[in-house]
Amino acid sequence: MTTTPLLEAIGLSKSFPGVKALDGVNLRLAPGSVHALLGENGAGKSTLIKALTGVHRPDAGSIVVAGREQRFADPAAARAAGIGVVHQERNVIRSFTVGENIVMERMPRSAGRIDWSKVRGEAAACLALLDVDLDPATPITELSSAQMQLVEIARALYTETRVLLLDEPTASISGAESDRLFRVVDRLRDDGRAVLFVSHKLEEVYAHCDTVTVLRDGESVLESQPLAEHAHDEIVDTMVGRSLGSLTVPTRSAPRDVAPALELDGVTTTAGHHDVSLAVRPGEILGLYGLVGAGRTELAHAIVGLERITAGELRIDGSPARIRSVRQALQRHRLGYVTENRKEEGVFLEQSITRNIAVTVWSSLARGTGLVSGRREREVVSRYVDDLDIRISSLNQLAGRLSGGNQQKVSLAKWLAASPRILIIDEPTVGIDLRTKRAFYELIWRLADEGLAILLISSDLAEMITLADRVAVMDRFAITGEVENDHDYDSMSREVIRLIHADADAL
Ligand SMILES: Nc1ncnc2c1ncn2[C@@H]1O[C@H](COP(=O)(O)OP(=O)(O)OP(=O)(O)O)[C@@H](O)[C@H]1O
Ligand SMILES: [Mg+2]
Repeated sequence: MTTTPLLEAIGLSKSFPGVKALDGVNLRLAPGSVHALLGENGAGKSTLIKALTGVHRPDAGSIVVAGREQRFADPAAARAAGIGVVHQERNVIRSFTVGENIVMERMPRSAGRIDWSKVRGEAAACLALLDVDLDPATPITELSSAQMQLVEIARALYTETRVLLLDEPTASISGAESDRLFRVVDRLRDDGRAVLFVSHKLEEVYAHCDTVTVLRDGESVLESQPLAEHAHDEIVDTMVGRSLGSLTVPTRSAPRDVAPALELDGVTTTAGHHDVSLAVRPGEILGLYGLVGAGRTELAHAIVGLERITAGELRIDGSPARIRSVRQALQRHRLGYVTENRKEEGVFLEQSITRNIAVTVWSSLARGTGLVSGRREREVVSRYVDDLDIRISSLNQLAGRLSGGNQQKVSLAKWLAASPRILIIDEPTVGIDLRTKRAFYELIWRLADEGLAILLISSDLAEMITLADRVAVMDRFAITGEVENDHDYDSMSREVIRLIHADADAL
């Protein structure tokens, strides 16, 4: 039996200057399905979503909604046709409250005036549907990016949505928040609606999706297939266009007899850490694992001076150090800090790729003469563009025109290009495709072999076990233990989980 798809793309094409982002793409979203849209960074996933929702006008092809061809002049027209969307970039009105952001497309009115108590009531009902504990009166700017995303989902559900398109909704939210999101997704499916789901996390794709489309270089190379008929490795190879094979983890012998480059000794901070001690030697990768909210990012903040150390000592190369800013960390100590919030903090969207990567290079390149030649700058930048396989049409392209994952890579490249001696990286591979993840792992191993001291914060336990030499576990702003990494997933994950709960058991 064939059912009429709720939404269908037939031969959709879209070009930007220098790149054919979509090339004859076909997609069918059946009622009651959760459809995965997969592909490497820059494959065209977000462009497809924008072409389907009136953000971009397709150059060719058609969009069919429940059997009727549609042309959306703008996003409002797509919404009116029952298509809800949460884009990869946050899309909220910053001067509005949470509630106003949710109902803004259909402000409740009575007697011609906006009915504010209704705004709050209806927004609260939407949030309750999502199990989100937020007051509609909260200014939206007080929210984390993950919370803003939930507000955007609430907004998409507020209008009559038959099809919900979610562009990497789980890239930067915690496991608990993802679970909540998937409960909503499951409910929509059971209700006979359709969800399109973009993610680089194949485990969750297999757990929640039933059908799949794979894009590669703008073409749909696998079109609306039952997911269960395609094994994990086959899907990966289809995305990449060749067999990716398996990753070889090098046998590294992290140096033990050298003095630590970065050391915390009994540190207490204004963020709430107590008695935190850890040490990273040159050439070593120390993993800092913990659940979201355990205090890992805040510890990084304390090291670079964004939080204050109130007791204990921070030492760099054995000497006590007081760092006041990220800039000072780099200039005085050659300590680089790649923040978790790269999309908001890491990339200047209106600047070229070269400028973005070169900002941190200036301080190291300009040393001595105070000048950086354009040629030298381009050399350094091109090297990292190659290393991380950043998909660009030219070095002068604006960073804002890159796909989301490629923007992430630009912000990583920026810090690597500064040739730091100590690097703190927070959630390095969020939103980055599998192949680049591997290229990044290899780069990190190479940098460590060259003597870089690396503190790696990640919520991805598999990533931690792949990369780290040792893993320190943090729970509620304290270190609960440290494990030597034997790279055996089962024994390591057991040990790490035990340490996370060590404190709780003792209570
Ligand atoms: N507004 C734009 N102007 C110019 N080029 C663009 C624009 N938007 C996207 N592109 C280009 O189109 C291609 C596809 O980008 P898209 O954002 O759709 O990729 P994606 O599959 O969503 O990747 P990611 O996983 O990194 O989010 C890329 O080469 C990108 O640089
Ligand atoms: Mg995208």
